[in-house]
Amino acid sequence: MLPKGVQRSLLLAWGVNRPYGHLPGLASRRCLETEILPRMRDRCRSVLFVGTASYTWHYERLFPADRYTTLDVAPRVAVWGARRHIMAPVQELTRHRPAGFFDGVVLNGVLGFGIDTPEQMRRTFDELHRILPPQGLLVVGWNTGRHEDPEELSLYDGFERSGDRRTFPGETHVYDLLVSTRPALPTGR
Ligand SMILES: C[S@@+](CC[C@H](N)C(=O)[O-])C[C@H]1O[C@@H](n2cnc3c(N)ncnc32)[C@H](O)[C@@H]1O
Repeated sequence: MLPKGVQRSLLLAWGVNRPYGHLPGLASRRCLETEILPRMRDRCRSVLFVGTASYTWHYERLFPADRYTTLDVAPRVAVWGARRHIMAPVQELTRHRPAGFFDGVVLNGVLGFGIDTPEQMRRTFDELHRILPPQGLLVVGWNTGRHEDPEELSLYDGFERSGDRRTFPGETHVYDLLVSTRPALPTGR
């Protein structure tokens, strides 16, 4: 097995970095990279980024190494994961880390990209409540029109908003910045 850095270089040279490589000016992505992630770094002790891709591997550089973890269910994208990477469904996170472990979670582009039904979303948010301590930060990035509004599904119960929903002209991608107001739930395992 080649070292991760070599695998990445080969994949990038073969042109896998297309989805955002050809949209360098996308305002929502710029917001994530220049506002949201630095804010998480400055406010959180330990951040989890859910869903890895060829265009997200460098986010690790924004964080001290011991304070940033990635997670993805798909083995094929583990190569884009951080040094601390969990290969598992986010719905099973507390099998891998104790309740309250992460005080910041970024769930961007995952609802509607594998977590599609209201039931799957509900299980995801239950688990996020377990992994976040009270006052933990959650960023939900999602595409309007791709699935129901998580807020209307009551998935944001137990969170309060930190600012208004962030929207971007001409884009369907939005961000909801949330703060957990609920004590961490027991794992039940
Ligand atoms: C659109 S991609 C990458 C999103 C990335 N977070 C971003 O900022 O663009 C969505 C990723 O979510 C992962 N995913 C889908 N369902 C998941 C689940 N239940 N648990 C963890 N990862 C999941 C997929 O394997 C895929 O790599």
